[in-house]
Amino acid sequence: MIEKKNQGVRLRRLRRSDTIRRLATETDLQASRLVAPIFVRYGEKVVEPIAAMPGVNRYSVDQLGGYVNRLWEAGIRTVLLFGIPESKDELGTQAYSNVGLVPKAITEIKRRLPSMAVAADVCLCEYTSHGHCGVLTGGEVDNDKTLPLLAKAAVEYASAGAEIVAPSAMMDRQVAAIRSALDDSNLSETLVMGYSAKFASSFYGPFREAAGSTPSFGDRRSYQMNGANSREAMREIEEDVSEGADMIMVKPALAYLDVIARARAKFEMPIAAYSVSGEYSMIKAASLNGWLDERRAAMEVLTSIRRAGADIIITYFAEQAANWLGEAT
Ligand code: PBG
Repeated sequence: MIEKKNQGVRLRRLRRSDTIRRLATETDLQASRLVAPIFVRYGEKVVEPIAAMPGVNRYSVDQLGGYVNRLWEAGIRTVLLFGIPESKDELGTQAYSNVGLVPKAITEIKRRLPSMAVAADVCLCEYTSHGHCGVLTGGEVDNDKTLPLLAKAAVEYASAGAEIVAPSAMMDRQVAAIRSALDDSNLSETLVMGYSAKFASSFYGPFREAAGSTPSFGDRRSYQMNGANSREAMREIEEDVSEGADMIMVKPALAYLDVIARARAKFEMPIAAYSVSGEYSMIKAASLNGWLDERRAAMEVLTSIRRAGADIIITYFAEQAANWLGEAT
């Protein structure tokens, strides 16, 4: 028999109106936590759509100003740059050239919008003819030969004005190599955001089309992590922390929410999660087909990443999400 006076716990009371639901919400998203990746390509006056990522473009340096202004207006305060050079070679020379694309892009963004924080991805895969993230010795990715090249790239990007350098090559000791090169070059203020737990994932597919960085032979499983391993992810993060990383990252996000939550419980550091190209494209594709409500699906996924414990979310939905967050509802 139901007691008359006290009907006990009724959780639906907390959901009875929009205002009450908002009052009791546990997880908030803010535009200032979202990072917009930007593909910078060679050439002039080019804004080139990426077929596998509807709504995302490659921009030549002269076209960046308008785009970053739009991001700023929407509330985005940090961008993450990737370069797509005209020519690639065995050693990925364009990645660490001081007249390379990314330094030019950083200079241009800083000239237009000094308060926009600029992060630069540090890796060789967009710049090597073979598409691997490091240089090769006898057909194998050579960890220790790659380190000075990553360090040189990081110093070039930081010298051009990037506040954050983000090594994504998954070479052992890459954070240490970059930290000491930055410190030796009077760039001790530059932050290092390690792609600490980066898994060998099928969800990078659209990015590789966008950046033309698919390996010409083999795959990345000898350096990117096995998706089955979360204890090892904690060891990777621990290693980056001990090498001096300021921020750590889990990537991809959606298929690795447990890894984000585990990192949140273990590390007192800002944690970034990279919601990668495939996570974006699958929502886009389904919504273009009318199978998913784009806005609701995207916001649900971003909220889940934040709820798992990420402080920072790198997402191709950044501009749209910031605009949705800014809309009065
Ligand atoms: C470079 C790099 C990649 C991504 C970010 N940095 C590609 C890869 O590892 O193949 C993927 C980002 C995405 O899919 O959105 N190593």
